[in-house]
Amino acid sequence: MFSKGDKTKDVATPRICDVVWHDGEFIAWNDARVHVMSHVLHYGSSIFEGIRCYATKQGPAIFRLKEHMQRFLNSAKIYRMDHGWTLDQLVDASVELVERSGLEQCYIRPILFRSLDEARPAFGVNPFPNPLACYIGAWDWGKYLGDEAIEKGVDVCVSTWNRLTPNSMPAMAKSGANYMNSQLIKMEALLNGFAEGIALDDRGYVSEGSGENIFTVTNDTVLTPPLSSSILAGITRDSVIQICHELGITVKERSIQRAALYVADELFFSGTAAEITPIRSVDRITVGAGGRGPVTEKIQKAFFQITKGERAAPGDWLTYVKKSQAAQPGRNGSQPETSATVSLSDHEPEPAMKFQAAGHGIE
Ligand SMILES: Cc1ncc(COP(=O)(O)O)c(C=O)c1O
Repeated sequence: MFSKGDKTKDVATPRICDVVWHDGEFIAWNDARVHVMSHVLHYGSSIFEGIRCYATKQGPAIFRLKEHMQRFLNSAKIYRMDHGWTLDQLVDASVELVERSGLEQCYIRPILFRSLDEARPAFGVNPFPNPLACYIGAWDWGKYLGDEAIEKGVDVCVSTWNRLTPNSMPAMAKSGANYMNSQLIKMEALLNGFAEGIALDDRGYVSEGSGENIFTVTNDTVLTPPLSSSILAGITRDSVIQICHELGITVKERSIQRAALYVADELFFSGTAAEITPIRSVDRITVGAGGRGPVTEKIQKAFFQITKGERAAPGDWLTYVKKSQAAQPGRNGSQPETSATVSLSDHEPEPAMKFQAAGHGIE
């Protein structure tokens, strides 16, 4: 599957890391397989993360790795998945995976799911008899909504599908099953000629895209729906909020009516895969001037500078993969901070960081 001497698999576009982390060991990509009767395939019992590693002058740097892994742990906790992995172990495993991949930039995908014990198989909905399996894979992923989208924006629709209700499927857990709802939204949008769909919550307020959070800009004020609108507490969303604070842009968490999308000056999506993508029309109604607006551009520029390690981040956001080159611009001209983590054997536990995604810094 991999060409000789090549660390990555080249099919169509994605270059894929030839090893996968599995419960503490690195195994070959080809060996990362599950039984078709695994609980997860029948009942959707998985939680996962999506993390980007960016190419910087100091080598690959993983963006907000600890926050993503904390959300991973939170998702597992919500679904009573007692796996035993610590934040530090998952962080270290990801760093070592990227190191082994040889990729300068990539997308990292940790997943934890209910598997099948072939010696004592269990097939019911009750997940407890099924063993847990944890994997982390990586591949090089380009621009999620297309290369042009970052500059020109995308045409989207409001979905006929609502987002999950808070007491049916918790949107704040990044579970595989939630993405059945996302798939309905995405398929409908694509089949109707749109790049993405925006779902409303069960009360009719704006929630989020199938795989992105959403922001509006009106009279230079940036608004985004609150967690109570059944959104995933996006880490890019939190980054945008913190960047707005740094840039002196007013940002608020507010319930947003569907019609407010049509009359906003600017709209944009945020997400690990989509990064910061402007929205140029909703339901074929042009948003603002119909392209990337000035506020979006300002936020987007700061975001990409931070991810490339060219601008100080509001926090310790980059984990450099190469230990010897582990430095990032310090804030306010301070000394560079070392933030790299290396192989599991070098692991030194540090206090688990709790990511407070809800209303981070928002009034
Ligand atoms: C449904 C949904 N909302 C929002 C996001 C954005 O979250 P983040 O910025 O943490 O990637 C994602 C992407 O993971 C998503 O799938």
